[in-house]
Amino acid sequence: MQTLRTVAELRTRVRGWKQDGRQVGVVPTMGALHEGHLSLVRAAKRGCDRVIVTIFVNPTQFNNAEDLAKYPRTEEADAAMLAAEGVDILFAPAPEEVYPAGFATGVAVQGVTAPLEGALRPGHFEGVATVVAKLFGMTQANRAYFGQKDWQQLQVVKRMVADLNIAIEVVGCDTIREADGLAMSSRNVRLDALSRAQAPGLYKVMGKVAAAIKGGADVAAVLAQGREDLRQAGFTEVDYLDLRSAAMLEPMTTLDQPARLLAAAWIGGVRLIDNIAV
Ligand code: PAJ
Repeated sequence: MQTLRTVAELRTRVRGWKQDGRQVGVVPTMGALHEGHLSLVRAAKRGCDRVIVTIFVNPTQFNNAEDLAKYPRTEEADAAMLAAEGVDILFAPAPEEVYPAGFATGVAVQGVTAPLEGALRPGHFEGVATVVAKLFGMTQANRAYFGQKDWQQLQVVKRMVADLNIAIEVVGCDTIREADGLAMSSRNVRLDALSRAQAPGLYKVMGKVAAAIKGGADVAAVLAQGREDLRQAGFTEVDYLDLRSAAMLEPMTTLDQPARLLAAAWIGGVRLIDNIAV
């Protein structure tokens, strides 16, 4: 595996692959890699001839300076894991390579960005869409792999690719969980022992809520009970626990189309998000 820092070097390598007719896959990440990220890498390895993993802690998608400063950075360990998976290129540019002086363009996706994470984290999805569009442009990949863990992000990326006619296939991959159900996340390392023990309550409550909704119970009542159950389980604040249409993320009061149950809640000062199909 080669680690590259500049777009020029990356372009040169990819041009060679493309001339040889290779299918190129990209897995965009912010590093601090875990089995969730590696599952995307393995999907890319199965589906493509060459695989690029990008590690870039994108400052423009953080709406909180402390969250950005505290974001775990473990490039050496990440690189070892990616080499062991048979990744061809680790692309890990510096912020100045991605946002050189004079940078002035943003990608603003409407609609699907408005609720949930978009409402709570102003500017977050514009930061994500812009950097993902840039990573697609830089890597010229044929396929890109994203986790369903960040369901709304996945819908935003799909919308952007369709709307801007970007020639890339977006592949959504299952959420990888710890044995106790907690969705893997780079932020989980910030959980203290008690919070870590209570954190699987999020997935448990969501499973219960989804089962009740599928069983025909009143959606609003079940969601209200679910929010209360999360507080009982140790979550100090529930940003949302909501049933939404799967692709557009529009509110749903009855189960009349493919739906997703999405949640964001705080425990021990850490914000966890999760989602499941209903
Ligand atoms: P990051 O949080 O590092 O996640 C990188 C990719 O890994 C995303 O597609 C995310 O959905 C996926 N992922 C994270 N945890 C997962 C899990 N438990 N199971 C399966 N997939 C999981 O998401 C970002 O970075 C950034 O917003 C990025 C797209 C790189 C743009 O900066």
